[in-house]
Amino acid sequence: MRKHYTRSVMPIAALLLFIFSCAPKVAAPSEADVSRGQKKYPDLSMEQLDAGRAIFQENCNLCHGYYQANTEPEDAWLEIVPDMVGKVNRKLGTEKIDAKDQELLLRYTITMSTASP
Ligand code: HEC
Repeated sequence: MRKHYTRSVMPIAALLLFIFSCAPKVAAPSEADVSRGQKKYPDLSMEQLDAGRAIFQENCNLCHGYYQANTEPEDAWLEIVPDMVGKVNRKLGTEKIDAKDQELLLRYTITMSTASP
């Protein structure tokens, strides 16, 4: 009995592990996103978008799941980002996301808000 139980559970466990490790986090920027974003931020680079995404992934699922940037328009992100940065810093009791990081987060969310899904 026990042996059969183990045999049936292992593939399911492996599948779950696979699903979780591959679960999409937040959208990765492409070169097309960089060029589109440069209309608003002329000095925008892939490094900046990657850095903004990393800050997002590290801090923005502490209380809820990740929101994808293209689910909110630009003017919403201008309000949400400072609001949520305040929440992150209060929750962690330190200035985890400083003004420079907040700007990178804004560049990432606003640029990716117009990315095709
Ligand atoms: C300390 C908990 C906490 C953290 C950390 C947090 N959020 Fe939130 N978030 C909330 C709560 C609570 C709401 C529900 C609406 C509200 O209170 O504004 C929310 C709502 C949202 C919404 C939905 C729009 C809205 O305002 O209702 C978005 C988008 C969002 N958060 C993005 C983020 C991003 C981006 C980060 C990382 C910078 C983040 N959140 C970090 C608690 C948090």
